[in-house]
Amino acid sequence: MTSFAKISHVAHYVPKQVIENNQLVQLMDTSDEWIASRTGIRRRHITRNEDTSDLATQVAKQLLQKSGYAPETIDFIILATITPDSAMPSTAARVQANICASQAFAYDLVAACSGFVFALSTAEKLIASGRYKRGMVIGAETLSKTLDWSDRSTAVLFGDGAGGVLLDVAEQLHFLGEIHRTDGSRGMDLQSGVLGLSSPFSETSVPHPYLKMEGRSIFEFALRDVTKTIQDLLISHDLSDDEIDYYLLHQANRRILEKMAKKLGSHLAKFPANMAEYGNTSAASIPILLSECVEQGSILLDGSQTLVMSGFGGGLTWGAILLKL
Ligand code: ACO
Repeated sequence: MTSFAKISHVAHYVPKQVIENNQLVQLMDTSDEWIASRTGIRRRHITRNEDTSDLATQVAKQLLQKSGYAPETIDFIILATITPDSAMPSTAARVQANICASQAFAYDLVAACSGFVFALSTAEKLIASGRYKRGMVIGAETLSKTLDWSDRSTAVLFGDGAGGVLLDVAEQLHFLGEIHRTDGSRGMDLQSGVLGLSSPFSETSVPHPYLKMEGRSIFEFALRDVTKTIQDLLISHDLSDDEIDYYLLHQANRRILEKMAKKLGSHLAKFPANMAEYGNTSAASIPILLSECVEQGSILLDGSQTLVMSGFGGGLTWGAILLKL
């Protein structure tokens, strides 16, 4: 039996502590002017004592509260993150326990800034199979724990936060199409969470513990490969930019959104942005953005709008989903 899936509720949660660009000047050789003009980022929320599972649990609790669903009616939780509390138990399992979702199976999905769109597509297939009726998809990160806070080329870019959605069975098709890609041959352009070999039987190795990024090449990758993927998705569904209400893109750099809007022959007004407030929150950036758009009333969740959702980053990974929301 097959059925359809839809996003029925959205939520987000970020740590209360806000770090302004000007505060980073005390830690490294940078300036508010450089960060804001090159990236569009003005501040970020950085955790003091909450780990990734704590942020994600707040999102899961909000989803339960908004929907009125009992926790034991949740069939699965997929949590996209590159900053888990631990490899084991998974961050998803911690959330499952925290909200008492006793019937849910739960696992983490690791695909950096594409994590949320990969997880959402996977979750849609679980519901479309007819075997599951209800699931949570959450993107949550505490990137602050992976950064070298003296490295101006990365530390100014990232923030902490979480966002998520509830997926329910629907009566009609909401997930119209998708294209997902990975190119592991370019993977070393973005690295973090390196677990170097270490045993009495291994040769010694010196892992680099901090997040490292070839910023310029990732910038070019986003403009070239991600734009092409969005174009291919629209062409394969015989859609033009006129028929798209919004493009919900990963929030890495405002200049990427500006250039992408131009390449797609679209208008920047169709590309909501919140990196000024949160920086790049990797797997959390798209669900935080979606949740804010719903709060502000621009995205209605009534099935009347057509959206493209696209994530891109470490792996390298990238993907785009065409949605009726
Ligand atoms: N403050 C001041 N100067 C700086 C800073 C800083 N924070 N960072 C770099 N600079 C300097 C550099 O040293 C360089 O100086 P030089 O010319 O004297 O050598 C100059 O600024 C230009 O550096 P570039 O790296 O070429 O700057 P660019 O304009 O490319 O911007 C950035 C860098 C913001 C990282 C951009 O390349 C970018 O946004 N890349 C894409 C990031 C992205 O999309 N990530 C998504 C995936 S993230 C994930 O998956 C976890």
